[in-house]
Amino acid sequence: MNEKINGKTVLITGASSGIGYELAQQLAPKDCRLILVARRKELLGQLVDSLPGGGKKHRYYQCDVSDQNAVEMICRDILNSGIGIDILILNAGVSSGYKPPDLDIENIRLQFEVNFWGVLHFIKYLLPPMIERNEGLVAATGSPAGYRGMPKSAPYSASKAALARFMESLRIDFWKTDVHFTLITPGFVKSPMTDSNDFYMPFLMPVEKAAKIIIKGLEKKKLEICFPWRLCCIAKVARILPPRFYAWIMQNRRK
Ligand SMILES: NC(=O)c1ccc[n+]([C@@H]2O[C@H](COP(=O)([O-])OP(=O)(O)OC[C@H]3O[C@@H](n4cnc5c(N)ncnc54)[C@H](OP(=O)(O)O)[C@@H]3O)[C@@H](O)[C@H]2O)c1
Repeated sequence: MNEKINGKTVLITGASSGIGYELAQQLAPKDCRLILVARRKELLGQLVDSLPGGGKKHRYYQCDVSDQNAVEMICRDILNSGIGIDILILNAGVSSGYKPPDLDIENIRLQFEVNFWGVLHFIKYLLPPMIERNEGLVAATGSPAGYRGMPKSAPYSASKAALARFMESLRIDFWKTDVHFTLITPGFVKSPMTDSNDFYMPFLMPVEKAAKIIIKGLEKKKLEICFPWRLCCIAKVARILPPRFYAWIMQNRRK
């Protein structure tokens, strides 16, 4: 199962900052050919120029992953260029504030559009060629917040839970093939996303370390890459707590 990632063609969404950006930085020296996707074109351009191989080897696309037509267009462009993608890292995500009891439907919809639909749009167009070749790895970035409802995070928790279940079901559907499905479940990682959090983040990890762990996990084709292990253990225990006990414990968090 352990296969070096060196030389693979890897598409990363959400590559303009944080975890996706760092994954690109660490994969390029491993001779990977990268296809980078995000909305902030200038950042992607600067990143590609700074990578070994530069624009001759790597590509980037400005794209809002929640826009199915835009995703279809870039996937067609990739496929028409004869590029075979070995690994999809569907990592773009948003976590915007939510103040109960104000159910801001637009805000909730946006989180689903990016965190859930933004992953599915790529799977729709890029999974079939993988199935045809009978090889490939599809990884999506979830969150421990997808294990159970988190305080003041209903939209984010729900979108990541939906993503986790979707990936789990796909894995079962394609179990007999050589196409693999990995759920990346990071704890708190230092990034622009967490920089805006105003609550205590246990076991906060530097993004460089997080990317290293993710790459190792992808090479092992792990079903889930959950880290750091201490937060992962706590989250997994929380998953099996009875609902009333879980709600009682969590009610005092993040006032
Ligand atoms: N950091 C953590 O502690 C943590 C923990 C658990 C899970 N995660 C997950 O890890 C992933 C990466 O997060 P991060 O911490 O690296 O955050 P980040 O630095 O804010 O990066 C988010 C990335 O997603 C892209 N993105 C957002 N909306 C997009 C859209 N509509 N279309 C295309 N790209 C979009 C952003 O690029 P543009 O703005 O340029 O489009 C950016 O590159 C997310 O899925 C997040 O939920 C993070």
